Amino acid sequence: MDRTLPLFALPVIGDTPAHTRALHLITALCRVRRTDRVVPVASAHISGVSYWNLGPAGLEYLDELAATGRVRVPSTLNPCAFMPSAPPPWVTEDDARLQARVLAAYEAMGVTMSCTCAPYLTQPAPLFGTHLAWAESSAVTVANSLLGARTEREGGPGALAAALCGFTPYTGLHLDANRRPRVGVRVTARLDEPVRMGLLGAWYGRVLGNAVPQFLFDGPCEPTRTGWQALCAAIITYGGPALFHVVERTPEAAAFPTLPAQVTVSDADLDDEAARLTDLQPGEGVDLVFSGCPHPVAGTQACFFHRDVPVAEVAGNAPWTLLAAPADAGTSVHADAGTSVQAGRILTLPGGCPAVSPLPPEVKTIVTDSAKAAFYLRSRGYRVGLAPTQRCVELGSTGRWPHAT
Ligand code: F3S
Repeated sequence: MDRTLPLFALPVIGDTPAHTRALHLITALCRVRRTDRVVPVASAHISGVSYWNLGPAGLEYLDELAATGRVRVPSTLNPCAFMPSAPPPWVTEDDARLQARVLAAYEAMGVTMSCTCAPYLTQPAPLFGTHLAWAESSAVTVANSLLGARTEREGGPGALAAALCGFTPYTGLHLDANRRPRVGVRVTARLDEPVRMGLLGAWYGRVLGNAVPQFLFDGPCEPTRTGWQALCAAIITYGGPALFHVVERTPEAAAFPTLPAQVTVSDADLDDEAARLTDLQPGEGVDLVFSGCPHPVAGTQACFFHRDVPVAEVAGNAPWTLLAAPADAGTSVHADAGTSVQAGRILTLPGGCPAVSPLPPEVKTIVTDSAKAAFYLRSRGYRVGLAPTQRCVELGSTGRWPHAT
């Protein structure tokens, strides 16, 4: 059943000033994207939550919308800089007050205060074939590739406008024709750690760009949820599309014939990619270790700790260890034995993201297990090392980048 609507059927004036502004933005986006139809959405996921990115103009815009705007579909929120209720020690009271104002504006509009880049883990996951208006590139790629839902990579204002109107431009990955795989990619590389799934995404985006791939995993692999998240986050961050298919693994793969492999990705390709994404030199000091990009479910930060590495040791030499997690994760860190740890210099950043958050001023070097985080932290001028999660744990202990990766 065709549920799309022609643009001319939309009202010019909305029920409220905020609704009118949202309608105008959706109309403008339709023009830019060259479509004259909109499609109703089942949910919206909104980015643009860190006061640190929004600035005074962004906050003013949100306050104006919040005065009269209420969302018309279930809507969730991307990470902010930090939850004002759990500020990290290096931020000021002013920082916390401004971040609280941003959250209050979204809350007044009826947006769920999820503050996570993995809304598919904290809310009911979108159904196959449903149309969405999601911002946050990693979540968009999960929705399209792993869940079979349909969304463009919206910006924050476009997702918020869709939340206020209930529909979004009918274009791009909403259409069958744009979901076809275009490049057959045989992957013989081992994909047995999340970081290597991220490296595959980074390699694909850098080398093959925006064409929708159909991967055939032909090497040792049993991707975990964290691994799939890593691939989704990295491929779009490094210039790839917001959709991929994996033969016999992703929900829409069976709808298309298996393409002949046009390119093969080997272990050596991923090792080269890891070297490209690493700035640190052997023996260089590590100021901060970061895991949790994209956000895991609450409690699975445990994967950061290994039985063989006592937490006290993890907290030993790297000045900071930082774990990002959804807003409801709390500030406790759960070791894999189920022990709740709240000590040392290990911090969770519930509801936050280091890419959009102030970090301690003394931090210059960061080790992470996330290819996406590596991209954004490098773009902020940090020197970064990319390593598997267990290696990150060890680096938290030694405080030095190793001689061999
Ligand atoms: Fe999430 Fe921030 Fe990573 S929004 S995907 S933790 S860069």
